[in-house]
Amino acid sequence: MSGTAPGSGPARKVGLVTGAGSGIGRAAALEFARSGAAVAVLDIDESTADETTEMIRKGGGEALTVAVDIADERSVRAAVERTVTAYGGLDFAVNNAGMASHHRQLDRMTADEFERAVHVNLTGTFLCMKYELPLLRGGGAIVNIASNGGLYAIPHAPAYVAAKHGIVGLTKAAAVDYAPDNIRVNAVCPGPTRTPGFEKVAAGTDMVAGQEAITPLGRLATPGEAAAAAVWLCSDAASYVTVIAMSVDGGRRA
Ligand SMILES: NC(=O)c1ccc[n+]([C@@H]2O[C@H](COP(=O)([O-])OP(=O)(O)OC[C@H]3O[C@@H](n4cnc5c(N)ncnc54)[C@H](O)[C@@H]3O)[C@@H](O)[C@H]2O)c1
Repeated sequence: MSGTAPGSGPARKVGLVTGAGSGIGRAAALEFARSGAAVAVLDIDESTADETTEMIRKGGGEALTVAVDIADERSVRAAVERTVTAYGGLDFAVNNAGMASHHRQLDRMTADEFERAVHVNLTGTFLCMKYELPLLRGGGAIVNIASNGGLYAIPHAPAYVAAKHGIVGLTKAAAVDYAPDNIRVNAVCPGPTRTPGFEKVAAGTDMVAGQEAITPLGRLATPGEAAAAAVWLCSDAASYVTVIAMSVDGGRRA
């Protein structure tokens, strides 16, 4: 394989992105398509996924909407199989879909709230990997979108932080187990990123100013900046990069 972009080189690459109807997932799907890859646009919200698919097609790219609930094993299995049936293979997958959890301290959280956040974020990522890994072609790559909360604590987000740390652990475990198959597995850990999901949580609060104040680069990320790391990690330019959890957080980790 050659070239630096997932879709460059002799054969068209095929990939899927979960949560591709919004935010970081949509930005990643658009960038993969620009690089020439065929992209399956997976989301629980079929109408926003369709919007992403239309954006890609209008730009001359190849895309397909596939409805999925990453928290449901049968749905994940069917979505991954649909992608492979439609495009004849799978070269990369970005497991990006996730949910914010309730903003409160641990003792104020119910066990149901905790389990739901862990189920969607962590088990959902596990389910995607479970059905993607056996179908990935050699040279393939998985990128899981974790969070800065996968590397250090975010106040008042115990379930989210636990789940995102779990995603980083799952990434490392799979990377070691599937390296002999020439499959790379990495995570991207974005800091606060101005996506529709983030704007909903931040609305009516001083979150943006507060986050900017503690970020060395002095601003929040755009969805494209977080997505660019995932696109690079899936590309042949990252062919010797595996088992990393890449911060895209404007320097916050320092
Ligand atoms: N925006 C941030 O500040 C930020 C920071 C760190 C990590 N992240 C992570 O990045 C990822 C994307 O976040 P975003 O801000 O772009 O979110 P977003 O809310 O803008 O988009 C998330 C997408 O995922 C889809 N989705 C939600 N639950 C799903 C499910 N069960 N099955 C399938 N699709 C589902 C939604 O419909 C939506 O289209 C998430 O995993 C999030 O935790 C975001």
